[in-house]
Amino acid sequence: MERIKLEYGGAPLRGSLTVPGDKSVSHRAVMFGSIAEGRTTVSGFLSGEDCLRTIDCFRSLGVSIEREGTDLVIDSPGIDGWKEPSDILYTGNSGTTTRLILGVLAGSRVHSVVTGDSSIAKRPMKRVTDPLDRMGADIRGREGAQYTPLSVQGGQLRAIDYDMPVASAQVKSAILFAALRADGESVIREKEVSRDHTERMMHNFGIQVSSEEGTIRLQGGQKPVAVHVDVPGDISSAAFFLAAGALVPDSEVSLENVGLNPTRSGMLDVLEAMGAEIRVTESGSSDSEPRGTLTVRHSSLRGTEISGPLIPRLIDEIPVIALLATQAEGTTVIKDAEELRVKETDRIAAVAEELGKLGADIEPTADGMIIRGPVRLGGGTLDSRGDHRIGMMAAIASLIADGPVELEDPDCIAVSYPAFFEHLDSLQK
Ligand code: S3P
Repeated sequence: MERIKLEYGGAPLRGSLTVPGDKSVSHRAVMFGSIAEGRTTVSGFLSGEDCLRTIDCFRSLGVSIEREGTDLVIDSPGIDGWKEPSDILYTGNSGTTTRLILGVLAGSRVHSVVTGDSSIAKRPMKRVTDPLDRMGADIRGREGAQYTPLSVQGGQLRAIDYDMPVASAQVKSAILFAALRADGESVIREKEVSRDHTERMMHNFGIQVSSEEGTIRLQGGQKPVAVHVDVPGDISSAAFFLAAGALVPDSEVSLENVGLNPTRSGMLDVLEAMGAEIRVTESGSSDSEPRGTLTVRHSSLRGTEISGPLIPRLIDEIPVIALLATQAEGTTVIKDAEELRVKETDRIAAVAEELGKLGADIEPTADGMIIRGPVRLGGGTLDSRGDHRIGMMAAIASLIADGPVELEDPDCIAVSYPAFFEHLDSLQK
């Protein structure tokens, strides 16, 4: 579909939803399940485009992955039994698949070529290929392995002692996957703590990894043991309905079984700082990922500052947080978020320009944005720019816009939330 009309007529949002499975956890479940010998089962898997690309890649490596809805059965011969793929491994729009799989493949026994779509072709890969190169990985590609397509000849790796120059869970995870296959103990130091799903899942798969004050240590040569993974709901998907509930008058929305990993829950801190009425009920966790129910009500909001260690804890939520800020009293400043420039699209430019079309007052800066509110939003035609989170931000903006909003290229939303529009409709009935 090239363009859709978003017509919601200001109706309040009421009811409860179970958002789809966490994207980061779903990718990792397939990866660990494919490295481990034997049968891994997964429930709550996100059947979005990105995670389906991860499944395809590991099937090409000879891993059997059966999917029925959100359940997976993965039967693997183990990483040493993988077959050499006869075609490229296509990672689509998925930065997580592309970067993490490089770390996995570097320590395998096969040769492979990894490539993605036109957005992936522009995203920086040197941040991953550089530390992997230091570990002895044989990876080649455009401009000195800066960009896809990248070819990887798997082989024996050596441990690394690495100070991460960027706060990135994708980089950290690629190194951790490689470190599993390296001789000796690897040490990774993060400058800001990034999401720790890889470390938590390593524990689940029986791997010993320690993490203290931003330093992660892992002894190479450990073998993951196949287990069951129960994926929590994705807080980054819940974020759009949290924002909608806070913005649309008379709304009250509950989101169930949402992952509440503290390295991901910065959006909740921001909602509180902005004065949103939000209730968090933890339901415990069946594994190492905490989860719970979030209930939000329409609230009057105030501006806030978002910077420093908070940024990696909400990096994917910044587009929808910016939308919230357009309706908040006062100024919201977002800084230290230069990573937004190299996401699926340049999200600083995309947010400022797209919401600007509806009349929002957003000044883009090199590492974030300054948003002045409250401003009544009007109608207009917005472009998702092929970025799922920009598309969902536009759809939520349409709920509070005075005029009609049209969205170009809404299909990309299926990357992380195929049922997004159905879920939105279900809250308006
Ligand atoms: C992810 C890490 C983050 C995030 C992305 C998913 C992950 O990227 O933006 O959506 O699953 O590790 P960076 O590692 O580039 O910060």
